[in-house]
Amino acid sequence: MDAIKAPRGTYDVLGDESWKWDRVIGVTRGAAADFGFKEVMLPVFEHTELFSRGIGDATDVVEKEMYTFTDKGGRSVTLRPELTASIVRSYLEHDMRRRSQPVKLWGWGPMFRYERPQSGRYRQFVQIDFETLGASSPLADVEMIDLSMEIYRRLGLSNLQVLLNSVGCPSCRPAYRSTLKKHFESSIHELCDTCLGRLERNPLRILDCKQPACRALTDIAPSVLDSLCDECRVHFGEVTRGLERLGASVKLDNRLVRGLDYYTKTAYEILSGELGAQNAVCGGGRYDNLAENIGGPHVPGVGFASGVERIIITMEAQGAYMGEDAGPDVCIVSSSPDRALEAASLAHELRAAGLSADMDFMGRSMKTQMKSASQNGAKFVCIIGEDEAASGTVSVKNMSNGEQESVERTSAAENIKNKLLWR
Ligand code: HAM
Repeated sequence: MDAIKAPRGTYDVLGDESWKWDRVIGVTRGAAADFGFKEVMLPVFEHTELFSRGIGDATDVVEKEMYTFTDKGGRSVTLRPELTASIVRSYLEHDMRRRSQPVKLWGWGPMFRYERPQSGRYRQFVQIDFETLGASSPLADVEMIDLSMEIYRRLGLSNLQVLLNSVGCPSCRPAYRSTLKKHFESSIHELCDTCLGRLERNPLRILDCKQPACRALTDIAPSVLDSLCDECRVHFGEVTRGLERLGASVKLDNRLVRGLDYYTKTAYEILSGELGAQNAVCGGGRYDNLAENIGGPHVPGVGFASGVERIIITMEAQGAYMGEDAGPDVCIVSSSPDRALEAASLAHELRAAGLSADMDFMGRSMKTQMKSASQNGAKFVCIIGEDEAASGTVSVKNMSNGEQESVERTSAAENIKNKLLWR
């Protein structure tokens, strides 16, 4: 029988790598606190309707990529493909409009999309996600872009490019759609098959096509910025002015459209040169009508999400500091299996004194135990040999300089704690 493997598009984070994830989430959590965001933990699955109404029926995510199933109660539920719709649902469900506005929330966790897996693209992936709800000020958009860049700065990422655009709103977008449609219809034979389908349903998505012929047509397509209504134009001007004031380097890209339909006004992406085809490390923008689309009142919102795997790939490629795989403070090495109980009780005492401690369960030789303590990155080794057992002492060996000292068994914890302070 074939051994069962992890499903395509998923991966295992092994114990000797999980600290990289801790570093990204830890730095994110620190930045979230500094910018006044509170963490939320929401269900991994939601009613399917939340995403079909929130993200939009005509999007690739809803049409092709959702993990949707009928539960045993006959309800259609979906593994969340993103967090924005869930956070807005939670804001509405808990009547957060009654709190002081805006409400600034963040979350992280696994998302699920049935996409074609490739480097940087998975079917289960982890996002960090930030949302500011209840504020229509362009400065909330500026803060969001600043926050995403601040997280990357703290993580040591460089060479990122921020692309910024406005996708308008329901009052100006229809005119832009028809201008764009006319533009593409005039060269309809040059469009790829996918874009032919997009022409009727969502001509804006053609701007995103990577096929050379479609790209050539989008290069000369009318710019959305020329179709914006006054409100969207003023908003966009204030966002760009705010970013300039912060000294943020941003590239205006009037071809930038997002794959989710809820965006209004600001849309942005941050690209990393280290990522190949899947080069967006972050995507976000404003979504002033999402709350209404899922049955709530008008609640303006702006946010972004960033793929943790893509952050880690970029950090690794750029040699950014990723923290370290910290080994235990102490490994206990004992001279024979008869001393294992003694070792277990010493480990118990050291842990109770606040140290991290490990011991051997395999009855291995002292030499092998020393080797594995060193491989596991132990800072100290506590040796319980024949002499130590007879004299009620342990030998404490500092693994970084090889110095060894005999100490009373009862003061071993204190001794190691002192040495850790001076390491
Ligand atoms: P998104 O552009 O679909 O936006 O995803 C945001 C980020 O998640 C991407 O830039 C990428 O880093 C990562 N990502 C997306 N799909 C995958 C995948 N299959 N594998 C690995 N990483 C992936 C959203 O999800 C919006 N909810 C962002 C947002 C928040 N807008 C407003 N608030």
